[in-house]
Amino acid sequence: MQNFTYCVPTEILFGKDTEKECAKEIRKHGGSRVMIVYGKGSVVRSGLLQRIKDALKEEELFFTELSGVRPNPRLALAEEGVKKGIAERVDFILAAGGGSAIDTAKAVAHGIANPNVTLWDIWTKKVPLEKSLKVGVILTIAAAGSETSDSAVLTNEAIGKKMGLGTELNRPAFAIMNPELTYTLPKYQIGCGIVDIMMHTLERYFIPDQSNRMTDEIAEGLLRTVIESGKKAMEDSTDYDAMSELMWCGSLSHSNLTGLGRAKDFSVHKLGHALSARFDCAHGASLSAVWGSWAEYVYEKDKGRFAHYAKAVWGIVAEDEDKAAKAGIQATIDYFRSIGMPTSLPELGIGIQAESVLEELSQDATMGDTVRLSLLRPLDAEDVCRIF
Ligand code: NZQ
Ligand code: ZN
Repeated sequence: MQNFTYCVPTEILFGKDTEKECAKEIRKHGGSRVMIVYGKGSVVRSGLLQRIKDALKEEELFFTELSGVRPNPRLALAEEGVKKGIAERVDFILAAGGGSAIDTAKAVAHGIANPNVTLWDIWTKKVPLEKSLKVGVILTIAAAGSETSDSAVLTNEAIGKKMGLGTELNRPAFAIMNPELTYTLPKYQIGCGIVDIMMHTLERYFIPDQSNRMTDEIAEGLLRTVIESGKKAMEDSTDYDAMSELMWCGSLSHSNLTGLGRAKDFSVHKLGHALSARFDCAHGASLSAVWGSWAEYVYEKDKGRFAHYAKAVWGIVAEDEDKAAKAGIQATIDYFRSIGMPTSLPELGIGIQAESVLEELSQDATMGDTVRLSLLRPLDAEDVCRIF
């Protein structure tokens, strides 16, 4: 087991009606002038936004809004939020939504706290990030895990790049998680969320150092729970227990609990980000579209690990390691299909691309062939191109 530090400071309020606590939570965490960050309208239609505003008014908190966050959130909107936040002397950011609203909120918080630095310089680590505002979250989709994660992802549309920023300053102060707020989700988004939650665990699972047994047990239990609850959630998005399991798994999966004591990989995410930057596809769908090809490309480097996964997660026992490993990969692909998720680029709606497009995507994913992806089998741009 490698050395590790585990600190997830985000306070979690889980369950029915917990959103009613948002104003008190903001006060408790020192906020008085709030910017509410949200997406394209689901929180307006569900009435959540109005309930948030009512709660803030009752607590006599000043608030302003940044609306219109879109999936694969854009740098430009975050910059707009920074300008507005500085002008309105905002001291706390409240995200209402999913990964896109939360990541925009995190970016706005960094930008307001560092008014003399451009946001992209922070994102690309040209300028070290040493302070930020506090962010609170009201989660409406179980997926990205941004409500507890140390990461945030933005797309710089001007240069066609989607990039993550990892820093402890990305951990929200509190996360309100009421599974009832996810009842209005379209099936496609539930499917994307299931994939993303599984992927946050799998990207910490298929790595060379597997010596932490407890971490394996947590990861495998989480995967089994997501697979089973995911099926129920796809049938009935108002199944409280299924949505609860997904929501809690989403947070645990990306808080780093499922990767303690070992390295993490996130190579499939790099492939997915390249696809989303170019084709604006949903994050979860971008991952399911390439995971099977990635797994088939790398599994021979550690058949034992893939066979172990097949048994522990899918209950597959086969006569030899190779068969078991392949069957585990196939079971995962079949599951993605069963919940309506794409398992190839054509299924993602991208169609057969000219070789040159695939090459460009591979260059993007490997930062111009300067970075090797995958710890099990280091992949250069040519390998990535074959996977695509
Ligand atoms: O914009 P609105 O109208 O709110 O609609 C959203 C959006 O269209 C909708 N939605 C959310 N909650 C809903 C709802 N519709 C009806 N009812 C509800 N209760 O769902 C759509 C997707 O929302 P989004 O926030 O984009 O989803 P998700 O949570 O999957 O976030 C994806 C983003 O997070 C990034 C991804 O790359 C992507 O940009 N990630 C962030 C991570 C992090 N910060 O730690 C890690 C992840 O690996 C991921 O990269
Ligand atoms: Zn993800």
